[in-house]
Amino acid sequence: MNVLILGSGGREHALAWKLSQSKQLGNLFIAPGNAGTAQLGLNLPVDPTHFSEIKQQVLQHRITMVVVGPEEPLVRGIHDYFLADEDLKNVVVIGPQQYAAQLEGSKEFAKEFMYRHNIPTAAYQSFTAENIPEGHAFLESLSPPYVLKADGLAAGKGVLIIEELGAAKEALTDMLANKRFGAASNKVVVEEFLDGIELSCFVLTDGQNYVSLPSAKDYKRIGAGDTGPNTGGMGAVSPVPFAEDDFMKMVEDQVVKPTIEGLQKEAIPYVGFIFFGLIKVDGLPKVIEYNCRMGDPETEVVIPRLKSDLLTLLIAAGNKTLHSQEVVFEENSACTVMLVSGGYPEAYKKGKQITGLETVTDSLVFHAGTTLKEDTVLTNGGRVIAVTSYGKDHHEALKKSYQNIEKIDFDQMNFRQDIGFDL
Ligand code: AMP
Ligand code: GLY
Repeated sequence: MNVLILGSGGREHALAWKLSQSKQLGNLFIAPGNAGTAQLGLNLPVDPTHFSEIKQQVLQHRITMVVVGPEEPLVRGIHDYFLADEDLKNVVVIGPQQYAAQLEGSKEFAKEFMYRHNIPTAAYQSFTAENIPEGHAFLESLSPPYVLKADGLAAGKGVLIIEELGAAKEALTDMLANKRFGAASNKVVVEEFLDGIELSCFVLTDGQNYVSLPSAKDYKRIGAGDTGPNTGGMGAVSPVPFAEDDFMKMVEDQVVKPTIEGLQKEAIPYVGFIFFGLIKVDGLPKVIEYNCRMGDPETEVVIPRLKSDLLTLLIAAGNKTLHSQEVVFEENSACTVMLVSGGYPEAYKKGKQITGLETVTDSLVFHAGTTLKEDTVLTNGGRVIAVTSYGKDHHEALKKSYQNIEKIDFDQMNFRQDIGFDL
């Protein structure tokens, strides 16, 4: 079968790497892809949110499955677009329809869903420009720090954590009255601050059945010791040492099952990945957020640990036969370290030549933000390369990644030297 992956990051390279090992794969396409995915399939120069251009490519290349990497096409309704089109309706789309994608696309929708199904999460209220004084009163009822979230997608920047009450009130006014995050902050969710350690869990579901994928922990801050601004993710570790079996059992019983059952009770179809952003507070799991896709860079450690055939699993998700699937994982740890452009997550330059990639041994190199110019690999984003390694534990895996990073270079290359420091 011919498969198209939408997206251009390390997640998409890791998915392409795994799918290309499947005997069931015909031709692989990636739109728009990067220099790494170009080694595994054909990159198509199409924006994942330009649905009519995607349609053209799907028909031209006889593609029968589309795996949606990032959230934006899903939140904009790519799956619905396929279902509504006579020529596309039989193409399997991995990723939920627009209604369910609100689990990621609207913080308020996600919170209401969790409340309806008794899924543990932080207490909250949501506000609009019409009730800012009530928002200020709610902030006064909470203890610091204060958590303010733009309801809609805001490129990962829509969550503010503020120490001081006056500043939190000002920020709330700014988000609502001055549209600090544009339409994404027409509504703002204000919630209780949860103090704990975060991890990510993933399932692949057909809406009725699901298979659990390994847990992972990502490192979001740019600086050592989790300091400085948030990034898309600077590294990841799987499994998560503090996610012991009894904790994961609670995650399954209190979070995963109620989520899948909630979708069924509300007759919300869902074919695709669900990403549970969790926090462990006093030994108990709480949901920080849902995402309607795999994480990046979590995919670069979760997928390498999957021994089963990914395409078989995706086909089963599309056929709603996931209950018949056995999933096997690598016992070893997998860890990744992200190489980023100098300046990221603020302004950075692109187009720097990357050297040494071919000298890497005993690690997997996933391209996150690269492009090919003739035969030269150039940087093309903030996050550039993820170096993933296996080891008997995360120490051993990380050591290999750091050794291989020594061989890779580009102008102003930056990376965190302390992935896994808190484990
Ligand atoms: P989100 O986009 O909802 O994942 O939020 C971004 C980050 O903000 C999370 O990964 C957490 O580190 C932090 N965060 C979000 N909500 C809370 C909360 N209620 N308590 C503490 N930290 C939070
Ligand atoms: N690594 C977090 C995310 O993919 O949203």
